[in-house]
Amino acid sequence: TELVFSGVQPTGNLHLGNYLGAIKRFVEMQQRDAQCLYCVVDLHAITLWQDPQALRGQIREVTAAFLAAGIDPKRSIVFNQSQVPQHAELAWIFNCVARLGWLNRMTQFKDKAGKDRENASIGLYDYPVLMAADILAYRATHVPVGEDQKQHLELTRDIAQKFNNDFSQSILAHGHGEQFFPITEPLIGGPAARVMSLRDGTKKMSKSDPSDYSRIALTDDADGIAQKVRKAKTDPEPLPSEVAGLAGRPEADNLVGIFAALRGITREEVLKDFGGAHFSSFKPALVDLAVEMLAPIGAEMKRLVADPGYIDSVLGDGAERAAAIAAPTLDAVKDIVGFVRRG
Ligand code: TYM
Repeated sequence: TELVFSGVQPTGNLHLGNYLGAIKRFVEMQQRDAQCLYCVVDLHAITLWQDPQALRGQIREVTAAFLAAGIDPKRSIVFNQSQVPQHAELAWIFNCVARLGWLNRMTQFKDKAGKDRENASIGLYDYPVLMAADILAYRATHVPVGEDQKQHLELTRDIAQKFNNDFSQSILAHGHGEQFFPITEPLIGGPAARVMSLRDGTKKMSKSDPSDYSRIALTDDADGIAQKVRKAKTDPEPLPSEVAGLAGRPEADNLVGIFAALRGITREEVLKDFGGAHFSSFKPALVDLAVEMLAPIGAEMKRLVADPGYIDSVLGDGAERAAAIAAPTLDAVKDIVGFVRRG
């Protein structure tokens, strides 16, 4: 049976890339006949310094974004990572399965640690192992994410495979099938798997870009959205009528991809309507579409964060239901590894 898991960091500045690459697709996954778990990964957030007061607000804001986008907290399990101790527990065991060489290849660590690597937290280095634990504590089979998480999901598969191999005899002896952990399927795709900066089509849209004009925030109002789309970088050519014509035109490609994802169609279909059009007519259409799709989400987020009591009750309920799935996995893992347990 299918089990879907994904996570979003509460590090502030949730943006259009997070929405189109991840959260919008979380909502769509609810249509499948699968249990979905959506996690606000606060343990991951503190791998970089977070002001405690701000962090609390950011956790509630990501939760509000999930709900405002259409995640149903009754059907799906919505929770924050630190309320379910099994994530950190399994991460420790996986620390002893994963190899130093595997982590040394992780490009996100190199990017985030920057030049002063000696001064990066151990948590930042270990980040992908905790991510594997998030997924495998529920033995999740499918993980919808943006393109930038691909390497982390490959590591998750390697950890699952090595655990299954290293402990194969013990796994069988405890009455489990050969594949104790599933080899998780990443779900990366659609026209917005990698949304780029509105200021530079060769850079990923990111929470940490110093320019506010590089991203559309989920909390931007209609005016803000319109202004950022109007100021978005373009090139002087009209749009091509074929996708192949977007090659070498990163800004045009990005805006067409955003339009496609917001509309729920392909780049081909966008170009069927707008091939030959200049940005002076494409941009207003994109403004209308973006405002129509995003402004209601931002407004609903504001309404929800005004009632932290409700948000916290959703997270508490979700944590209880998540732990009910993760606890039996951890019990089995401890038996498999050979720990002595209370009878
Ligand atoms: P985070 O918080 O950086 O981003 C959340 C989700 O948004 C996607 N994303 C993008 N998609 C398209 N274009 C972009 N410019 C863009 N920027 C971000 C990310 O790919 C992600 O899906 N490591 C994860 C959080 C995590 C997780 C997990 C995810 C922790 N444990 C387990 C899946 C399963 C992260 O940092 O996401």
